[in-house]
Amino acid sequence: MNDKVRLAVVGCGDIAVTRHIPTIMNHSETELVALCDSDITRVKPLASQNGVRSCTDDYRTLLTDDGIDAVIVATPPWVTPKITMDFLKAGKDVLCEKPMALDLETAKQVSQVEEETGRKVQIGFTYRHDPLLEKLRDWIRADRLGSPLVFRLGIYDEIWDPIGNPEHYDRIHKTMEHGIPSIHDGAHIADFLNMLTDSPVSHVEAFGLQSRPEFPTSNYDTSVIRFANGDMAKLEISWFYPVFPQGEFEVLGPKGLAVFDRFKRYVELRTRETTEREVHEEDWWESCFRIQLDRFVAGIRSEHPFVPGTSEGIYSLSLTKAIEISMERNKNLFSGGINNGISKR
Ligand SMILES: NC(=O)c1ccc[n+]([C@@H]2O[C@H](COP(=O)([O-])OP(=O)(O)OC[C@H]3O[C@@H](n4cnc5c(N)ncnc54)[C@H](O)[C@@H]3O)[C@@H](O)[C@H]2O)c1
Repeated sequence: MNDKVRLAVVGCGDIAVTRHIPTIMNHSETELVALCDSDITRVKPLASQNGVRSCTDDYRTLLTDDGIDAVIVATPPWVTPKITMDFLKAGKDVLCEKPMALDLETAKQVSQVEEETGRKVQIGFTYRHDPLLEKLRDWIRADRLGSPLVFRLGIYDEIWDPIGNPEHYDRIHKTMEHGIPSIHDGAHIADFLNMLTDSPVSHVEAFGLQSRPEFPTSNYDTSVIRFANGDMAKLEISWFYPVFPQGEFEVLGPKGLAVFDRFKRYVELRTRETTEREVHEEDWWESCFRIQLDRFVAGIRSEHPFVPGTSEGIYSLSLTKAIEISMERNKNLFSGGINNGISKR
């Protein structure tokens, strides 16, 4: 392999343009050599701006390109698995965006192809690379919060603005045609829980709410998850509101509370005796995408599997699918209702 890892990016939409491509361009050990998007009008200007030698609207033309060492696949999850498997079969390692698939059978096929080809997949659980999240995990592992733990996570994303930003509205609306927010943004959240609890899930109860009739699915998901070790998680994952409530990321235990503020860039441990704060000044997105790419490059050069790899991807999808199943089951739960006799709605 050359000094630099030669990368192709397939899928040049929002996350590739705003994060993956600038991160590759700023990295001392990577070279961006090819770009692909099914919409060729996106790739041509990107290629000339970044001095990329090759651009195409058909990723299959890149499969046999010996000048490509590895590939970042940043396509929607309904097309990502096939492209990922094709590059593995072509002998290239892949960093594929989350969720790795929309159903477990397909996710397991990707893992199977990984095993058969001996190539490797890293999953784009970008935010697990945050040093502050690793600090939180260290506190949990050192029993600083005690046990059992309650994880309180509220994530609100994708502002509803159909007039001001129709491209974004159409993209997110289309994504919701392929699953509730828990399947998409929830992929990261399920990965946080995997990283922080280290315990199997034992029970999931979830409810969904659709705030506007024109949405293809619920856009406000709330779930309670129980873990075999007694930990519990309360999740709110929501898209498409015009204004967001404050998000939350807290871990509560018998010895204290940990508060993680990803935007203000600190994590804090509060007990009766002490308050400890760890700060990381670097911008959250820049930091997470940079470290994700560092680890992708290091993984390509080593014999070890990527972390997060397909097993983390399958764990995350298993949990978010359980949320989806529970939500469906709970749609008509207790349809008799409790009535105070004066309710007008
Ligand atoms: N890790 C993160 O923080 C993060 C953040 C946002 C999105 N994502 C994930 O990244 C993926 C892309 O999201 P996005 O918001 O950039 O979407 P997007 O729709 O803006 O971009 C996807 C691009 O893929 C292209 N594409 C579709 N099919 C293709 C094909 N067969 N071959 C080549 N190109 C094809 C589309 O034309 C589009 O340009 C999704 O899986 C999403 O969940 C991850």
